[in-house]
Amino acid sequence: MTTHTRLTFHGPLSSARADAIVDRLSASRPRTVLDIGCGWGELLLRALEAVPKARGTGVDLDEADLARGRRSAEERGLAGRVDFLAESARDTARGPADLVLCVGASQALSDADCPTAEALHALRGLVSDGGRVLLGEGFWERTPTPAELAGMWPGASESDHHILPALLDLAVEAGFRPEWTETATLAEWDHFESGYQADQEVWLAAHPEAVEVRERLDRHRSQWMSYRGVLGMAYLTLVPVSGWTA
Ligand SMILES: C[S@@+](CC[C@H](N)C(=O)[O-])C[C@H]1O[C@@H](n2cnc3c(N)ncnc32)[C@H](O)[C@@H]1O
Repeated sequence: MTTHTRLTFHGPLSSARADAIVDRLSASRPRTVLDIGCGWGELLLRALEAVPKARGTGVDLDEADLARGRRSAEERGLAGRVDFLAESARDTARGPADLVLCVGASQALSDADCPTAEALHALRGLVSDGGRVLLGEGFWERTPTPAELAGMWPGASESDHHILPALLDLAVEAGFRPEWTETATLAEWDHFESGYQADQEVWLAAHPEAVEVRERLDRHRSQWMSYRGVLGMAYLTLVPVSGWTA
C-alpha cells in the first residue's frame, strides 16, 4: 500500500505559505541550510532552489522519507547541493548553519514530554549569527477540555503544548526575536489530515477485510476530530539575538 503520495509537506502547510516563508528566509542569502527532522525535505529543497549558492543538509531517521527527498533532489537538479542523512538530530554536530529549519520536529531535538523549550535552546546553538530559524511548532489554539484530551493521542495532556503567547515567550527566552509569526489555517489542517490518510482510505475501500488497517484509520480519524481546531501549528521565523549567552 502506498502512503502519503497526496502530501507535499508532512504537516499543515500550504504551498502558498511555504513559498512566502522561503521568500522571507532567502532574503538573508543563507549559504548553509540545515533541516532538523527533514522528512522528505520539500521546504529544504525549495530553499535551495531560491538560493542557488546554498548547500543543504537534512537529518532524519525515516529511511523511506529520506529516499523520497533524495529522489526529489535528483529530479530537480539539486542532488549535488544537498545531503539527506539518516541519523538522529539529538545533540547533532551538523551546525552552525545560516538557516535552520525545524518544522513539526522539535521532538528530534529533545525527548522531554513537551520538547519546545529544549528544542529552542538547541536551535539557538545551531544557527549562525545573523542567520534565521524557522520553527514549525504545535500549540493550543485554546485550552483543551478533558474530554478532548481523552480523545487525542495516547496520554495527551494539556502540558504537551503551550498557547501561542507562551510559545513566543519561550522563543524570546531562548535568545531569539520573532521576525514573523503565522499559524496554519483550519483549511491547511484539513488538507494535511485528509492527505495523510487518503491513500490508505482508498486502499481500504477495496480491501474491507483488512481489519487492522480499518482500526488504525478509524482511530486516527477519531483522534483528529478531537484535536481539530484545538491543536494549532505556528510557523515562527526567528532571528538570533547578537551576543546572547544562555
Ligand atoms: C511531522 S514530521 C515533519 C517532517 C518535515 N519537517 C516536514 O515538515 O515535512 C517529523 C519528522 O521528525 C523526524 N524525527 C523524529 N525524531 C527524530 C530524531 N531524533 N532525529 C531526526 N529526525 C527525527 C521523523 O522521522 C519525521 O520525519
